[in-house]
Amino acid sequence: MERTLVLLKPDAVQRGLIGEITTRLEQRGLKLVGAKLVQVDSSLAENHYAVHKGKPFYEGLITYIAASPVVAMVWEGPGAIEVVRVTMGATDPREAVPGSVRHDFGLEIGRNLTHASDGPQTAQDEIQLWFSEDELVSWPRDIDRWIYET
Ligand code: RTP
Ligand code: MG
Repeated sequence: MERTLVLLKPDAVQRGLIGEITTRLEQRGLKLVGAKLVQVDSSLAENHYAVHKGKPFYEGLITYIAASPVVAMVWEGPGAIEVVRVTMGATDPREAVPGSVRHDFGLEIGRNLTHASDGPQTAQDEIQLWFSEDELVSWPRDIDRWIYET
């Protein structure tokens, strides 16, 4: 089953939106297989956002992600990577569609509340960067047969 890394960024935590955003992922039918609160240091921040190094928003992004704790989570489900990105909405909250997290709670691209892996390789790399094997739990959920067809 596909897995993806989700971060509730410092603004989501500071604004008391952990429950609200997590509820949306749960209600979608995704299964939580890892979760922790992390105070990001500069090494983790730089590793996580290495792909953006050199871009004009890079320094601000590193400062933002390390400014206050984040909630790191791994979610599992069919098509989880794309499903989560759609649930979060476009990178810029002003372009995100109503009903998406970034639309419903955000106004600025530099305060867009969440991170979600953007493909199978990044999901694998990011999960490995943020979680050790023993922090991830594969568990049978009693309602699985009412969410998954097979
Ligand atoms: P994320 O990685 O956080 O899930 O977001 P994303 O894929 O939708 O966006 P990405 O292009 O990967 O950008 C990573 C984060 O950098 C900030 N950003 N600022 N000022 C800007 O033009 C700009 N562009 C991107 C956002 O916080 C974005 O989530
Ligand atoms: Mg991205």
